[in-house]
Amino acid sequence: MDARLKAIAEFVPRGSRVADIGTDHAQLAIELIKSGRASKVIAADKNAGPLDAARKNILAAGLDDRIETRLGDGLSVLRAEDEIDAVCIAGLGGALMVEILSAGILSSIEYLILQPMNAVERVRMWAALNGWLVIDEDLAEVGGIVYEIIFLGRSDRATTVEETKRSKSPLLKKLTAGRLEKLKKIAASMEKSAAAVNSEKYRRLRAEIEKISAGGDVL
Ligand SMILES: C[S@@+](CC[C@H](N)C(=O)[O-])C[C@H]1O[C@@H](n2cnc3c(N)ncnc32)[C@H](O)[C@@H]1O
Repeated sequence: MDARLKAIAEFVPRGSRVADIGTDHAQLAIELIKSGRASKVIAADKNAGPLDAARKNILAAGLDDRIETRLGDGLSVLRAEDEIDAVCIAGLGGALMVEILSAGILSSIEYLILQPMNAVERVRMWAALNGWLVIDEDLAEVGGIVYEIIFLGRSDRATTVEETKRSKSPLLKKLTAGRLEKLKKIAASMEKSAAAVNSEKYRRLRAEIEKISAGGDVL
């Protein structure tokens, strides 16, 4: 298992019943059972091809009695009110993740472990507006790419760690430099148009570049 999936698995509270949405190869689901982190996993995917691959891997690992596969869109695969405790969604874009979470019934779910591929700030915003608190977060690097992993709990019950794994991670510098470079590229391309330079979007972009350049946190 690579560092990204490992970091995601480490946030799953021990003994949880977990739904892995967009499971694909079911590597995370298999690791969660093998490591004893999860007591049961529902491994779900919207597409039949990835779910077939998941079934094959689960069978090969001899875990078909502990991991149930379900075909369907997002959280619609969950049936009973109190079926699971935690949801993992990894490897999907942030906008799609927010769509899935907004469409789902989350009332009986205690924890969310999310690894958006982009638009992380949209996921953070959704969480803050919908009663979720960032308990902890981490970074993981695979093939030169730094991934962000966010561990959320109910804001009326959960408490945040004093210092997140992310804030202590040696990868934070790399993430910050990458984000700054990306924002500067967008700014440079906007600077070709006077209308773009006079826009609110450009003003916010410059403010973000200045904040990060001055040592501010990347969100
Ligand atoms: C890039 S893979 C990520 C696999 C795995 N979660 C990981 O992080 O390694 C994305 C998977 O999500 C599935 N997917 C995309 N949209 C989905 C949705 N709305 N509901 C469930 N699965 C979805 C795709 O079929 C694909 O198998």
